[in-house]
Parts: sequence; structure tokens; C-alpha cells
Amino acid sequence: MTLRDVTKTFHTAAGPMQVVDSVSVGIEAGSFVSVIGPSGCGKTTVVRMVGDLLAPTSGQILIDDQPPAAARASRQFGFVFQRPTLVEWRSVLRNVTLPLDVLGWSKKAKEDRGRELLALVGLEDFADHRPDQISGGMQQRVAIARALSYDPGVLIMDEPFGALDLITRDRMGFELLRIHEEAGKTILFVTHSIDEAVLLSDKVLVMGPRPTVVQKYERVQLPRPRTPDHREDPTFIALSHELRQMLEPHD
Ligand SMILES: Nc1ncnc2c1ncn2[C@@H]1O[C@H](COP(=O)(O)OP(=O)(O)OP(=O)(O)O)[C@@H](O)[C@H]1O
Ligand SMILES: [Mg+2]
Repeated sequence: MTLRDVTKTFHTAAGPMQVVDSVSVGIEAGSFVSVIGPSGCGKTTVVRMVGDLLAPTSGQILIDDQPPAAARASRQFGFVFQRPTLVEWRSVLRNVTLPLDVLGWSKKAKEDRGRELLALVGLEDFADHRPDQISGGMQQRVAIARALSYDPGVLIMDEPFGALDLITRDRMGFELLRIHEEAGKTILFVTHSIDEAVLLSDKVLVMGPRPTVVQKYERVQLPRPRTPDHREDPTFIALSHELRQMLEPHD
């Protein structure tokens, strides 16, 4: 995936506001890239442009040599947002298979796929529950399973663990890594947690204040599979420290 000189200007009642200023970045297929930067800098705007939920003002985005609209039409994206947005009257299983309804999958094929994905996120025993009968962390896993339903090559996740407690969040991060390893997807992951970004990613994309540019695009030199113990690795400590300093507000 490549972004070349991508800009975005919103036209608001108060006039034009440039949010993204010439972002160029290459993301290797199959890699896990975290996006960090100050609140309001333009992270969501950037990943929404990648996922064809928003059009750039100028510049070019290509996913496997395809523009975002074509990639989206061929179902290359799975989205996970901060809130799981499940359909409350559908069972957990039928929430996971919701995207397959529009694709015209048979009942049997949907059921099989849904159960396979629930097993992947550790929810096989909750297929018949309603969303309000499971915890927030479990709901978020349902949303992740749903995003994987049609096997997209790219997962776009915008602060997917923002609403979770720290323990669940940690566990979900490692679960996501397991899915990443098993399913070989490209993951674009927006987070406010420097630790999470360093621990999970192949590369960390640091975005500057609005109008945002790429401030740093750094490879995480930690081996895989990652474990919680990597938090004590000197590489982890040094990179987290560097990123924290970079994100501190300067006058
Ligand atoms: N549709 C829109 N119309 C006008 N302005 C917008 C629109 N979407 C976002 N913005 C503005 O663009 C800027 C960047 O927003 P964005 O949501 O991309 O930031 P962010 O980095 O994701 O922030 P956060 O970390 O708080 O989620 C903000 O100032 C926001 O008000
Ligand atoms: Mg955001």
C-alpha cells in the first residue's frame, strides 16, 4: 500500500481547514503498522481515506496497485472502529455474518464461516447470545470477527481497544497479533498508546500536529512472536521513550 503526497482540506462553516499535509508512506503487504499522533491531528482522516470512506483533496493512494474505491469494491478492507456498533437484535453469530448477507452466501456457508471466526476470537460458546449479554471486550471481538468475515487483505482499525480496561486491552492486543500471524493481513492500527504501538507493530507511523505530516516512520526491531516480556526489552524501552518525547507538546 502506498500513499503519495496525500492531502486533505475540509470545508467548514469557518472556511477551509487543512488537516493532512502531503503524507507519503509505503506499507508492506502483511505488515502491522500503528499510527500515533496528538488528538485531532488527522489520524482518523488518513485511515478513512485509505479505506475509501473519505476522498483525499489531492495525492494518490494505492492498495495493491488499486485506488481505494476499487479495493473497497473488491472487499479488501475490514473496518473496526472504537465502538463495536453491533446490531442489538441479532445474535453474536449473525452479527459476525452480517456482511455475508449482502454477498448472498448460503445459510450453511454463513453459519460455518461465522463459527470458524467465533472460534478464532475465542467466542465459540457465545454464538447465540445477544450483544447486550456479553462484555464490552467480547463485543469488540465480535466486531473484529465481523471485519474478518469476507477475508479482507487489509484491516483498518481506529482505536479499536479504546473503550477497554487495560487487562482486556492487553489480551486483545495479543489476540490481534495471533490473528495477524494466522491470517497474514495488513493491519493499519490507530492508537493513543505508545506502548501498544511498539509492542504490536512492525512499524510505527508518527503523525505531527494538524495539518499533519509524517513525523517519523520507524521499524520496531523486536522479534516475533511478541510477548508481554518484550516490554522489558531495551529496544522496547528506547523506542517508547523516543516516541514519548516526540509526542510531548513543544512550545
Ligand atoms: N468531516 C469533517 N469535516 C470537518 N472537519 C473535520 C471532519 N472530520 C475531521 N475533521 C477535523 O479534522 C481534524 C482531524 O480529525 P481526525 O479525526 O482525523 O483526528 P484524529 O487524529 O483521529 O484525532 P483523535 O486522536 O482525537 O481521534 C480535526 O480538527 C477535526 O475537527
Ligand atoms: Mg481519531
